[in-house]
Amino acid sequence: MHFSNEVGESLTYKFAQAAGKMRAEGREIISLGLGEPDFQTPEYVIKATETALENGFTHYSPSQGLPELREKIAGDYRQRYHKDFNASQVIVLPGIKSAVYTALAAILEPFDKVVNISPYYVSYPAMIKLAEPTAEIVNVKLQSDFSLDLQYLLEQLTEDKKCILLNSPNNPTGMMLTKDEVRAIVDACVKNHIYIIADEVYEKLVYSGYRHTSFAEYEQAKELLILTNGYSKSHAMTGFRLGYAVAPNAVVVKMNRIQQHVNTNTCTFIQKGACSIYENEPVHIKEYVAKLEQRVDFWDKQMNGLSYIRGRKPQAGFFYFADISETKMDSNSFCVKLLESTGIASTPGIAFGADWDHYVRFSIAVEMDVLERAASLMRELEKDF
Ligand SMILES: Cc1ncc(COP(=O)(O)O)c(C=O)c1O
Repeated sequence: MHFSNEVGESLTYKFAQAAGKMRAEGREIISLGLGEPDFQTPEYVIKATETALENGFTHYSPSQGLPELREKIAGDYRQRYHKDFNASQVIVLPGIKSAVYTALAAILEPFDKVVNISPYYVSYPAMIKLAEPTAEIVNVKLQSDFSLDLQYLLEQLTEDKKCILLNSPNNPTGMMLTKDEVRAIVDACVKNHIYIIADEVYEKLVYSGYRHTSFAEYEQAKELLILTNGYSKSHAMTGFRLGYAVAPNAVVVKMNRIQQHVNTNTCTFIQKGACSIYENEPVHIKEYVAKLEQRVDFWDKQMNGLSYIRGRKPQAGFFYFADISETKMDSNSFCVKLLESTGIASTPGIAFGADWDHYVRFSIAVEMDVLERAASLMRELEKDF
């Protein structure tokens, strides 16, 4: 297989591993690198998964996913958006990453062009190149306030593009596309027959005063829209490896063929356990978002109080993407210095695109006292810049 440059080691893992090694050597490490919710998986999911194991859900499931779970997912989209969603359009996969990759593998053909918004989720370029090594990635850079140059993006959405990959709310910026932007992207994609892969994994972690617009709202996109989502972030289920895609039937058929030959199916008892998500009120999410919001307010004040960092408060999720141009360091060197001098693990901006080498990403999915400690260590570093 051709391993293009894009299929490199994930920088988020690289720094997490370096931090892990230092911790094993006895250093105090503050982990603001990997994006993992710090709350517990809801008890009802654990119980339902245990019950599924006890009740014999320990064999293969249909490759596309348990009909019961697919029906619940489709029902949720019908209830939230419009009546056109049905279970045949849903495929359950081992994680949202797997859903995005499998969608790309199902639709991409040699030399296809993929529009990718930068900064992007670390794995998107690798996923594109693994799915189709000859694919051309057309990066569209956000502006320095993380807003979209909509006019420029629309100019890129021409007939020669196969798909656009979007992640709103976004990792790493925490920003969301506006309703008008979503609408304009849908119109341009429908006009030029471009697939939209909308990764909406952070849609439930939106701060007060903001509203997320899902691509699912637009019925006219249904022949081209591939929604990817799951429970990793909203229900702290990163270790369950469970996600799904809701896509046009022809795409699902191809994704299912890939699944049959690569995974057979997604873990059966975990799928059964996940059905409980649709039978219980997600009360924990409100509490968690309130906590995240408190932390983000704190972190934003702290970062903008430092001489060497400038940040912008996100609208959703648990990441904070900050400008470190003042340090005159590239993002890798900055993250190494931060780790070595303070024990704080972060992720270099370059992981999210070559244009973002003067940025650093912090995860705020840690308790407030951890953030307080991190902020005080970062104040001490001020003398070095
Ligand atoms: C945008 C985005 N998509 C997908 C994922 C991965 O989700 P999963 O763990 O379900 O594969 C993440 C996790 O960081 C993410 O930020």
